[in-house]
Amino acid sequence: MHHPTSSYPIKRFDLSTNTSLKAWSAADEYLLQHVTDLDNPPKHMSIYHDRFGFLACHLQAFHPTVITIQKSQEKAIKANLELNGISLSNFSNPLSSLDNKIDLALIKNPKSLALFQLYLEHLIHHSTEDLTVFSAFMTRHFTPKLLKIAGEYFEEVKQSKAKKKARVMILTQKKHVIRKEIIDTIVYKSRVYQQYWGVFSGGHIDYATQYFLEHMQIRQTDHCILDVGSGNGIIANEIAIQLPDAEIHLLDDSCLAVASAKLNITGAHIYHHFNNDLSIFDDHTFDLIVTNPPFHFEHEINIDTPIQLFKECLRCLKKGGSLQLVANHHLNYKVHLEKLFSSVQVIAQNDKYVIYRCIKTR
Ligand SMILES: C[S@@+](CC[C@H](N)C(=O)[O-])C[C@H]1O[C@@H](n2cnc3c(N)ncnc32)[C@H](O)[C@@H]1O
Repeated sequence: MHHPTSSYPIKRFDLSTNTSLKAWSAADEYLLQHVTDLDNPPKHMSIYHDRFGFLACHLQAFHPTVITIQKSQEKAIKANLELNGISLSNFSNPLSSLDNKIDLALIKNPKSLALFQLYLEHLIHHSTEDLTVFSAFMTRHFTPKLLKIAGEYFEEVKQSKAKKKARVMILTQKKHVIRKEIIDTIVYKSRVYQQYWGVFSGGHIDYATQYFLEHMQIRQTDHCILDVGSGNGIIANEIAIQLPDAEIHLLDDSCLAVASAKLNITGAHIYHHFNNDLSIFDDHTFDLIVTNPPFHFEHEINIDTPIQLFKECLRCLKKGGSLQLVANHHLNYKVHLEKLFSSVQVIAQNDKYVIYRCIKTR
C-alpha cells in the first residue's frame, strides 16, 4: 500500500513542565506501521484515544474520524494539526453516532479498561462486517483482561510480537452482540449516581471524595459555587442538597463525565461545562470552589495541571470566598497553594488525605 506518512513534529500542548515526557510512544509508531503494512487502504478509518495527535497527523491522508473524550485532547490534536498545516474536521466522541461505517479502527489503549470496552462497544455498532481493529499498548500495561474484553466483541484476537516494548492486538471477525447498557451506578447515602463507562472512579465512590464530603465547609451564604473536575457530579449534588437555592456550576474535561453529571444533577440553577480550564468564567464570580483535583493523566502523574487550575480558581473567587480541595498527602499541594493564597488551612486530615481551605483575602 502507498506509504501514508511523512514525518510531522508533534508537541504535547499540555501543562506538563517535565520536558522528558514525549507526545507519543512506541505504541503509536507500531500502530502506524500496521496501517502502512496493509494490502488495501481502508474506506473509513477511525482513531480512538490519540493523545496529542500523532496518529491524526500521520494518518491524515485517510481522512480519519478522530474520536476523543477530553476537551484538552481535542484542543491538543487540533493544535498539532494546525501546526502541521493539516485540515481535518471529522471529530466525534464515543457517545455519538458516526456518519460512516468504520472498516479500520485504531485504538491507542486507554488506561481504563472500562473506557477500552466503551470504545469497542461504540465501534461494534458503527462498523462494517469486515471491521479490523488495531489496538496498541506498552507491554508493561498489558493485562489478560484486555483479551477477555476483546473476546467479547471479536472471534479472532491476535497479538503482534513486541517491538520497542509495544504490542498491537489485531481484532477481526466481529461478533453480533446485543447493545449493552454503557452506564454503571454507584451509591452514596442511599443516593444512586450514574456514570458512563470510563468515568472516574469506577464502581464505587472515590475514598478521597467521600472524605471530602464528610468534611467540606459549606456556608449558607455561599450562593455561587463551582465544582472543578466534577466527574459524575457527586460533590456538586451533595452541595445542592444542602443549598437548594445556590447557583452551581460543574466543569469537567471529559465529555463522558459531563454527560454522566447531567444524569445526576439538573435544575434551574445548575450549569454544566465541558472544558479543561476556567477561561469561560469572569474574575470574582464564586463564593466557593470545590475540587477533588485531577493529577493522574493516563499512566502519568502531573501536578502542573491542578496547580494551573488552582491559579484560575483564585482569579474566579470573590474576595472572602474559598477554594476547598482534597488531596493525597504526598502531593504536597500546601507549598503551591501558599504561593497563591494568603490563608491556607488544613480543615481535616487522616493518614492518607488532607483537605485544604484556601481563602481569598484580597
Ligand atoms: C479525581 S477526579 C474527581 C471526579 C469527581 N469530582 C469525584 O470526586 O468523583 C478528577 C476529574 O477531573 C477531570 N479533569 C481532568 N483534567 C481537568 C481539567 N483540566 N479541567 C477540568 N476537569 C479536569 C477528570 O476528567 C475527572 O473527572
